[in-house]
Amino acid sequence: MKKNLIQSLYIATISAMIIGCSESKKISADKTTTLKEAYKKDFLIGTALNTAQIEEKEPNSAALVPQQFNAITTENIMKAEIMHPTWNNYNFEMADKLVAYGQKHNIKINAHTLIWHSQLPAFVRRMKSADSVKLFFENHINTIASRYDGKVLSWDVVNEALEEDGTMRKSIFLEKLGDGFVVEAFRLAQKAAPNTELYYNDYNIEEPKKRAGAIALIKKIQAAGVRIDGVGIQGHWRIGKIPFKEIEQSILEYSALGIKVMFTELDLGVIPNPWDGNAADVNLKAEYNAKMNPYAKGLPDSVQAEFTKGYEDLFKLFLKHKDKITRITFWGVNDGQSWLNDWPIRGRTNYPLLFDRNFQPKPAYYKVIGLKK
Ligand code: G3I
Repeated sequence: MKKNLIQSLYIATISAMIIGCSESKKISADKTTTLKEAYKKDFLIGTALNTAQIEEKEPNSAALVPQQFNAITTENIMKAEIMHPTWNNYNFEMADKLVAYGQKHNIKINAHTLIWHSQLPAFVRRMKSADSVKLFFENHINTIASRYDGKVLSWDVVNEALEEDGTMRKSIFLEKLGDGFVVEAFRLAQKAAPNTELYYNDYNIEEPKKRAGAIALIKKIQAAGVRIDGVGIQGHWRIGKIPFKEIEQSILEYSALGIKVMFTELDLGVIPNPWDGNAADVNLKAEYNAKMNPYAKGLPDSVQAEFTKGYEDLFKLFLKHKDKITRITFWGVNDGQSWLNDWPIRGRTNYPLLFDRNFQPKPAYYKVIGLKK
């Protein structure tokens, strides 16, 4: 009975997608489940949404997101630059819409992010005095975290506070507030949002040196008697470079700290980057040249196969540790939306997600679902 209902819902939503987008090709009819249904006993399956998607102005996403995902992270709209543009001026409009969207579709919200060195409003970037930074820091956390307490499941309280070698990242917060700022952010968030889960989120924290730094940071928060509920390993990786061994070790070591482990911004890039490794520093940029955009006209089958295998092996690992993992979030709904088309080189064609530019499920989608059949 329940299965029939899911199937009917699925077919209805797929029909809406086909009607909603003239570009969509016909979707094959052999699908009987969705990502969130397949993994409902294991972990939440999330995606990151942009403004048009939250406002349901984009018909394909409007159909696909509630069907496939039961968790949302805000890709940009809850960053300080957008939510807190000037001293006493907060912009709650989109975040309020997001809360309504989550309630309407019964989707959990991970709010991203309270304290991040990037995407800071201009008035903060100009600050010289430590007192001003401290006041911004306190007001920002108190005002925003308290407003959404009980309305969002969780916050990425601090994002990307570490360098690759595991030391504290050189940022305005480190410079003006000292290295206790992470503990202080969690202390303030705990007070302002007692009903919200609080996470530390970063990229490459599966790698040994950075992982050691993250573990030291988490222990420091815990030793101060401050609550931290989970850690988000972002998961911006590339095919052929997925660090499976380190990922597994990280799941074990982070969960041994008594916190939840999540993969929070998952995507698998398939095109080269100038450093030939995994990275996600938004400040890194490089010049366009055609050699760096090899699949502009389509993805060769061999690369598609490697990509599919990458996701298959990752989800096998996630399932092996499902007792420790609470959420897997993809960084975007479909390939066309991904930040990886414009980073670190603008205007390229990347293929990092489970749905293609026409919102069609890719072979990797079926492999990931197939692991649960
Ligand atoms: O909204 C403006 C638009 O008005 C303007 O015309 C346009 C011109 O470039 O820029 C638009 O803003 C862009 C914004 O995304 C919204 O699309 C910014 O330039 C662009 O830098 C910004 O990129 C975001 C990036 O974070 C920096 O905030 C990406 O979408 C977003 O996917 C990315 O997400 C980060 C996570 O927050 C943290 N971890 C790494 C991850 C990937 O970089």
